[in-house]
Amino acid sequence: MAEKNIESVLHEDRLFPPAPEFSQAAHVKGAEHYEALYDEAKADPAAFWAKLAGTELDWFKEWDQVLDWQPPNAKWFVGGQMNITYNCLDRHLKTWRKNKAAIIWEGEPGDSCTLTYAQLHREVCQVANMLKGLGVGKGDRVAIYMPMVPEAAIAMLACARIGAPHSVVFGGFSAEALRDRLNDAQCKAVITADGGFRKDKVVPLKPQVDAAIADNAAPSVESVLVVERTKQGVTMESGRDHWWHELKKEASADCPPEPMDSEDMLFVLYTSGSTGKPKGVVHTTAGYNLYTHMTLKWAFDIQDTDVYWCTADVGWITGHSYIVYGPLSNGATTVMYEGAPRPSNPGCFWDVVEKYGVTIFYTAPTAIRAFIKMGDEHPNSRDLSSLRILGTVGEPINPEAWIWYHRVIGAEKCPIVDTWWQTETGGFMLTPLPGAIATKPGSATKPFPGIIADIVDAEGNPVGDNEGGYLVIKHPWPSMIRNVYGDSDRFRKTYWEGIPPKGDQHFYFAGDGARRDQDGYFWVMGRVDDVVNVSGHRLGTMEIESALVSHPAVAEAAVVSKPDEVKGEEIVAFVILEGSEPAGDELSATLKKHVGKEIGAIARPGEIRFTDALPKTRSGKIMRRLLRNLASGQDISGDTSTLEDRTVLDRLRASS
Ligand code: WT7
Repeated sequence: MAEKNIESVLHEDRLFPPAPEFSQAAHVKGAEHYEALYDEAKADPAAFWAKLAGTELDWFKEWDQVLDWQPPNAKWFVGGQMNITYNCLDRHLKTWRKNKAAIIWEGEPGDSCTLTYAQLHREVCQVANMLKGLGVGKGDRVAIYMPMVPEAAIAMLACARIGAPHSVVFGGFSAEALRDRLNDAQCKAVITADGGFRKDKVVPLKPQVDAAIADNAAPSVESVLVVERTKQGVTMESGRDHWWHELKKEASADCPPEPMDSEDMLFVLYTSGSTGKPKGVVHTTAGYNLYTHMTLKWAFDIQDTDVYWCTADVGWITGHSYIVYGPLSNGATTVMYEGAPRPSNPGCFWDVVEKYGVTIFYTAPTAIRAFIKMGDEHPNSRDLSSLRILGTVGEPINPEAWIWYHRVIGAEKCPIVDTWWQTETGGFMLTPLPGAIATKPGSATKPFPGIIADIVDAEGNPVGDNEGGYLVIKHPWPSMIRNVYGDSDRFRKTYWEGIPPKGDQHFYFAGDGARRDQDGYFWVMGRVDDVVNVSGHRLGTMEIESALVSHPAVAEAAVVSKPDEVKGEEIVAFVILEGSEPAGDELSATLKKHVGKEIGAIARPGEIRFTDALPKTRSGKIMRRLLRNLASGQDISGDTSTLEDRTVLDRLRASS
């Protein structure tokens, strides 16, 4: 399927221009308008961002310097003070938006609630005071390990209110993965729930927190705040664990926003890379606020009448930037949904669109491919006429899925906004502005104004049109990653030395290959490093290998991916055993489960192949390309000249 997709992407030349009425009503009104903004930003990025920071955000104190760029360290709006929750909440209370829906939430079992801006403000202030009561103060890190309930967003905002950086850990991660993250950032408190509802099952969360911090394994954690969601019964350790609803009874709703320096840390969010443990990506306050605000406003053309729904989980950057901060800073209505399409309810997403009159819908290609499989009857039997813009993110979208999305969900009238970005970039980098840029199925089109993107070779030289290369960013932007938590060396090496600087020119490079066509459109081809993308989730192959090797039956493991029709990629692990346990289905199931326990269900290999040798170069490096080809059933007989032991190939082919 990968081959087929690349073929169709290379020959994709259909162009979908915005309708004139759409362009006229949009924030960015056409190609010329986009070009003017892009050119203005390119000529003087600092002046461009300063102007927007002044008009779009509220500040407690104005900045002295827009940008201080000491590669690879950027500081934006130096000397300025603000609080992102003031921009997301307080300022709206002075307008008619006070009683506008801020969050519309739909639970999986069918319960729901709506919080207006005034109500959300009140809740956030109360929880901020509860955190203070637990001894959490400015600068203390707080982990948030939650299902998709409004309290997850409230917890994030409450942390930001008092200047305590949050570290949201996706609820699907295991106790082990949570423990690593708690320890890396030395979190002082954890906010969690008893559990959540996921695909008609109760997913326990508090028991995982207990397991993560048992036996003093995460000694920095002093308190655990627990939201009651599933009522399945959990143990509460007195002195350490507190029910959210109990503390709330006593909590004052008066909590002035903590004045934050522009560069004070807003949050850390862990993401996988090609080496080592997941990295804590650090984002700071003002630049992140500005960039997520502007990108949502222009790329999704947010208007006051919109009902905007992003289907991501708040455990990922998409949830941070485009469920919580971007929409609320814009005073928009943001929908949160706890559930996922499941056999008992394959049309649940379309029910949510119909029920709330969603106008902007943002999801991932893997979900779109799953919808295609479930059948058109589900969307076709719902009223989706409220939709006006569709978005996609997480991996390259194959043109077939794009066209289906356009036709079946968008009724051929909704622009599709394909947003390329990363945890590290904080916000959209390549994206159509729907009233301004004609789309091509499979292309994230052009850089957002202020983003200087290029395609270069390994030495940083620009490559020609339609020649593949590395996708780099050549000028800092307000929401860029500031550091890897506690490891500036790793930050510099990972992002700024992959393509070495050329004189004054530094290149931000985080792992994607791409090409630019004759019209200046970017086509992202996917990761060129040892990172795999399963259902839009980013996983390091090394992380999964370490998890496998931590099982006593495993001597060595090599993890690659093969194309999968729905998930995009599927994990295949080649495993060499040690000891006496026999290879077979039983051990295969045990090992898959073990990876689930070490990292989380999203990292479980789809296939385990037992072998007695792995193909290595003479210098001992595993030849992953060969394994990838083997895993996807391709011919591996050619190009093996660097292979250390040629008999390995035959033995591998015979592997089960
Ligand atoms: C990686 C970043 C940022 C939100 C979700 C994932 C891939 C993301 C696209 C897109 C092609 C995409 C890239 C990127 N990716 N969006 N529109 N087209 N590829 O965030 O977990 O940090 O992963 O996702 O490979 O590097 P993330």
